[in-house]
Amino acid sequence: MEGELVFHQFIRESTGCASYLIASEKTGKGILVDPVIDIERNETYLKDHNIELVALVDTHTHADHLSGIRSFSKLYPSAIIAMHESSPAVFSYTKLKDGDHLENWIGASFAIKVIYTPGHATDHICLLLETPERNKLISGDCLFIGDVGRTDLGRGDNDAMYESLFHKILLLPPETEVYPAHIGAKHFLASAKNSTTIGTERETNPALQVHSKEEFVKYMTEGWPPKPAHYQEIIEINFGKKSLADAPEEIVRA
Ligand SMILES: [Fe+2]
Repeated sequence: MEGELVFHQFIRESTGCASYLIASEKTGKGILVDPVIDIERNETYLKDHNIELVALVDTHTHADHLSGIRSFSKLYPSAIIAMHESSPAVFSYTKLKDGDHLENWIGASFAIKVIYTPGHATDHICLLLETPERNKLISGDCLFIGDVGRTDLGRGDNDAMYESLFHKILLLPPETEVYPAHIGAKHFLASAKNSTTIGTERETNPALQVHSKEEFVKYMTEGWPPKPAHYQEIIEINFGKKSLADAPEEIVRA
């Protein structure tokens, strides 16, 4: 905990998917970002720390694993579901846009800002927490430790990714801490660390060492690992077109 901010990173060891809790120590209210489908750990943490869940946010419509936001909202019916306004979701949700502030949801005195960062997906957002101690960026699948999110899963755009990274995210102060949605080898990421900083990534991330947009697009279109199995079906379940109940076991475990 840092001052008023309660910040916790949950890592699903089997896949390297990361979820985040942002809460106010003062009010006991919290927002869960990118929850995965096996929600027990998150639920235990909320109970143990006496945190009232008021919102569930997905940084984008995930293509590699099932989102836990709807499973969670069954357990916490008063918590709102929120995503970028361009989400393809067919269930009802609170629509977020660039520049929105979420701190009022938890009565926090630190800022929680929405930054619209399309590229990996059309509906991608990052969340910037501005605290007196140090700013933190929940970077979703926009910026990873040592890589960036791929753009070839059907809803990506290399030009938009370039804009989001080079004209938004990398303009943040270098000391800004970065917390991505995927960590480690399960996602073909070399680093074993769980967070990074804007400055470190600017200096060392291979995707960001390019000298032009053309070079970046070349990086984005070459040498990626195989696409996640069933990714189109996973997207359709996550935006509500297909039922979660019908998902085969290999998708639930993805
Ligand atoms: Fe993703």
